[in-house]
Amino acid sequence: MGVRFAGWGVGLGHRVVTNNDLSQTLDTSDEWISERTGIRARRIGGSASELGTTAGRAALVDAGLVGADIDHLVLSTTTGDRVIPGTAPLIAGELGIPGGAMDINAACSGFMYGLAVARGLIATGANRVLLVGAENLSRWTDWNDRATAVLFGDGAGAVVLEASDDDAVKSLNLGADGSLADLIYAEHGGFIHMDGREVFRRAVRIVVESAERALTEAGVTISDISLVLAHQANQRILFAVADRLGVDHGKVEVCLDSYGNTSSASIPLAVDQARRAGRLQSGDLVLMTGFGAGMTWASAVVRWS
Ligand SMILES: CC(C)(COP(=O)(O)OP(=O)(O)OC[C@H]1O[C@@H](n2cnc3c(N)ncnc32)[C@H](O)[C@@H]1OP(=O)(O)O)[C@@H](O)C(=O)NCCC(=O)NCCS
Repeated sequence: MGVRFAGWGVGLGHRVVTNNDLSQTLDTSDEWISERTGIRARRIGGSASELGTTAGRAALVDAGLVGADIDHLVLSTTTGDRVIPGTAPLIAGELGIPGGAMDINAACSGFMYGLAVARGLIATGANRVLLVGAENLSRWTDWNDRATAVLFGDGAGAVVLEASDDDAVKSLNLGADGSLADLIYAEHGGFIHMDGREVFRRAVRIVVESAERALTEAGVTISDISLVLAHQANQRILFAVADRLGVDHGKVEVCLDSYGNTSSASIPLAVDQARRAGRLQSGDLVLMTGFGAGMTWASAVVRWS
């Protein structure tokens, strides 16, 4: 049994914080941030459960469903409300979803890992699963550290996955390398630390390998792909990946300019922007790819319906 995407939704941090806002308190500038990252603003505010509930509710509305129609909720987050319990049961309770609810943590690859978990639940008998990626990264950000504070934002995205004989997911691979765990990390109650230059270098290589594998396993080539929906960490990473894959920059959805890096939320936020702009049409083949702390990575080729 395969899956189809039945509805999408997003939730965004309440407050828009621009690069100029950050330059009031940090030794940085709009010019540095936008040239090095492509980020111009980010949204701040809201817990993972609040943002995830908003996104989940919007996805249900988009699908014409209510919580009782959903079997299980899968939440991808690195920044849940509390360490114990998971945040998924809170969101499921708010939305009236009767079945199982669990958090998974694969950092910025989390939405793609969540897709794999949700597909697995459907393959083993569930009819509908709500997949949510929600992050409250601002709480884990050291606002005095210009190397990380300019990068992250708060947000959430969600999708309803429904059982379907015609599987939208044509290929999906996941990977992880724990020897790179120290490149991005946060201790309990601490701030995010990152070796930005090394993450950049590794990310480009990892994403290209994973994306090429997804294309091969789907039996397609990059020229068949109409849109790349990738984790939004840095526009220079996105375009370096595009150059190595041989795809025009115009076919890479970019929403990090408005939202910054929202980890698990970034791919569904990119999907939402592309849908609204009419860049996703029924029958299109798209490449979804993510990478993040762990390091983890994941790529999929998806047929839009
Ligand atoms: C973080 C990142 C934007 C830094 O860009 P970079 O081009 O690698 O810059 P560097 O770290 O080499 O720093 C260059 C200089 O800018 C300075 N700098 C760092 N942050 C700055 C900021 N916000 N404003 C101004 N200057 C800054 C550094 O101190 C350094 O100064 P120096 O040359 O005097 O030592 C970039 O490495 C990156 O995006 N990496 C990937 C991070 C990522 O994707 N993380 C999430 C993964 S899910």
